[in-house]
Amino acid sequence: MESKGYQSGFGNEFASEAITGILPKGQNSPQRVAHGLYAEQMSGSAFTAPRHSNRRSWLYRIRPAAMHQPFQPRPHATFHNRFDEAPATPNQLRWDPWPMPATPTDFVDGLVTLAGNGSPAEQAGCGIHIYAANSSMKGRFFYDADGELLIVPQQGRLHIATEMGVLDVQPLEVAVIPRGVRFRVELPDGQARGYVAENFGALLRLPDLGPIGANSMALPRDFLAPHAAYEDVEGDFELINKFQGALWSARIDHSPLDVVAWHGNYAPYKYDLTHFNTVGSISVDHPDPSIFTVLTSPSDTPGTANVDFVIFPPRWLVAEHTFRPPYFHRNVASEFMGLIEGVYDAKAGGFAPGGASLHNCMSGHGPDAASFEKASVADVSKPDHLTGTMAFMFETRKVIHPTKQALDAPQLQQDYYQCWQGIKKHFNPERA
Ligand SMILES: [Fe+2]
Repeated sequence: MESKGYQSGFGNEFASEAITGILPKGQNSPQRVAHGLYAEQMSGSAFTAPRHSNRRSWLYRIRPAAMHQPFQPRPHATFHNRFDEAPATPNQLRWDPWPMPATPTDFVDGLVTLAGNGSPAEQAGCGIHIYAANSSMKGRFFYDADGELLIVPQQGRLHIATEMGVLDVQPLEVAVIPRGVRFRVELPDGQARGYVAENFGALLRLPDLGPIGANSMALPRDFLAPHAAYEDVEGDFELINKFQGALWSARIDHSPLDVVAWHGNYAPYKYDLTHFNTVGSISVDHPDPSIFTVLTSPSDTPGTANVDFVIFPPRWLVAEHTFRPPYFHRNVASEFMGLIEGVYDAKAGGFAPGGASLHNCMSGHGPDAASFEKASVADVSKPDHLTGTMAFMFETRKVIHPTKQALDAPQLQQDYYQCWQGIKKHFNPERA
C-alpha cells in the first residue's frame, strides 16, 4: 500500500496514516492499537536531548521490529568503516567516475567505501561511500545502526521504500535515511550511481542563518517526508544491518516495512537541490563556501561541524574586481567533493560527474592553471551565469582517511597534482 505525495517541513511533528483512525489520541501507547497493530517508539536522539534537537517517532506496525532471527556476520568486500588501513595522506587526490558493476549488484552490495573519519563507536565522524548498482534489492532490507545516510544520486533514480513510506529521488535531489530506519532500494532506470555520507555524529540539521535572517539557503518547507505506506507480506527475507562498521544478516519471515501509521519528528526525508536559494556577494569577493551549506551535523564545538553538506549550484557571479572562481586556499577542515552534473568552475577538466576529489587538512588546492589564467583576465564588468552544474562537498572537522581500496583503485588519478604545476610565475616588482 503506497501513499502519494509528501509531508513538507524540516524536523516537523509529522503524522500520517495509511488507514485512517489508527493514530491514538491523547497518548502514544494505548493498551490496544486500532486494527491489532503494535505501538513502537523509535528514538533518534537521547531521551533527554534538548527539545529542539530531540527526535523520536511512534510507529504503529503489523509486527514489532524485534521479530527476526538472530544476526550473523555478513562480510562485505567494499563497504566498511576501516579508516586505518592506510596512512591519511596530505596529497591532493582525485578519482575518475566509479564504473557500473559488470554483474547484478544491488544498492547494498554496490556500496564502496572511499574514505572516512571517526567511528560509529564514538558516534563522531562519517563514512564516505560511492554506490554503483544495476539491480533492485529483492527480498532484502537494510538498515544502518551506525549513522544516518545522506544519499546523493548522480545517475539514475532511486525508489526507496522505507518503514515510514516511500521516497522517490533522482539526481539533483538528495535523501536522508535516519539511523536504524529499514529500507529497500529499487532502481526504476535499471542502474544508478551516487554518493553517500554515513553520518555517525549528531543528526543533520539546517544551519543557523545568523545575520542572513529568516530566509535563504535551504528552506524548511522544501524538505519532504513520506506518508505512511506499508507492506503486509510474508516470506523468506533477509534483514541486513550495519552495526559497528560491519554488516550482519538475519532471516525475517515478513516485510519489515509494515508500519501502517506513524507520528513524530524522526523520519526519512528528501530535498531538491535546485530549490536551494543561493546567497552571494553583490560587491566584491565572495563569501566562504559555508554560504552554500544545505545541512550540517554539528560537533561538540560550536561552529565546527562534524560534517557539512555543501553544494555549488547554478548561480550568477557578479562581484566586481574579483577573481570569481573558488580561490586558492588551505583549510583546517577536510574537503571531499563530488560532481553530480556539469563542470565545476575551478577546474578546466579532470573532475567528471561521478568522480571525486579529496583535499585534506591544510593541503593547498584551488583553481588549476588553465582556470586561473582564464579567470584572472576575464571581463568582470559583466555578470557570469553558471548553469547546468552541481558540485557538492562533504566537509569535516576531522582529517579524512581514504581507504586502501580507494588508494589502490585504477580510478585514482596519479597525475592530479600536475593541474597546478603549470601555474606561471607572474611576479615582477617593476610591474604594477
Ligand atoms: Fe576547498
